[in-house]
Amino acid sequence: MKIIIGEGQQLASLAADHYARLLTENPQRVFGLATGSSPLRVYDELAARVDAGELSFSQARGFTLDEYLGLPAGHPETYRRVIDAEFVSRVDFAPGAVRGPDGTAADPDAEARAYDAAIAEAGGIDLQILGIGTNGHIAFNEPGAAFDSRTRREELAPQTRADNARFFDGDVDAVPTHCLTQGIGTILEAREIILLASGAGKADAIAQLVEGEVTTLWPATALRSHPNVTLFLDAAAASGLSAEVRDAARAATLAATAR
Ligand code: GLP
Repeated sequence: MKIIIGEGQQLASLAADHYARLLTENPQRVFGLATGSSPLRVYDELAARVDAGELSFSQARGFTLDEYLGLPAGHPETYRRVIDAEFVSRVDFAPGAVRGPDGTAADPDAEARAYDAAIAEAGGIDLQILGIGTNGHIAFNEPGAAFDSRTRREELAPQTRADNARFFDGDVDAVPTHCLTQGIGTILEAREIILLASGAGKADAIAQLVEGEVTTLWPATALRSHPNVTLFLDAAAASGLSAEVRDAARAATLAATAR
């Protein structure tokens, strides 16, 4: 696992370089997209590079990570609407090139199976971007989720509903109780993974991810078995890491920035 520690714009630019490298090699890439505040600066950077004519997603495809169940189609907080507003509509994906789990599906279990099948049919995900929950969740894989889990219906942890109440006028009761989420096993099949975290609220989850016991109680620790993961952390999110890990990360950051 590679770790980069820096400040917001520097991290966004280094993370965007991963997209640029992949798209230069082959414009028909498949990207895994995440909602949440963590990827926003990366999306801003990617949109700026598309505007500048340096990058194009016109032949790429995308699959989002997760979706609430129980919100009406078109609700502003459906992840589908959020990812469209924050990223998809700002770059040049072809119409229909980005798919998300349908949170209004009459049969959520069938939708979950169809979603995994669609990812496989697209050839799998080349680059998955992730945030991390304060409880160590990735996508909506809450503590206890099996590391080989597939896309499925899940119940949200009380901590996650409390964290996400800020998007529902602070009203925790307005946050849906269930979701569809890519499984940890689904996420681990991505050929490359980048995870962004900022702020002291993520420090415990990041320390667990990097140096804690690998356990389903901290879902992100599953990433330790993946051969190509890069973490992009600000100093606060990295503050729970040991001095040795932070020293090594500083060296990796310098090397990445010098490129
Ligand atoms: C949500 C999403 C996750 C995201 C997490 C962290 O619950 N389902 O995919 O990583 O929140 O969000 P943020 O980046 O806003 O801290």
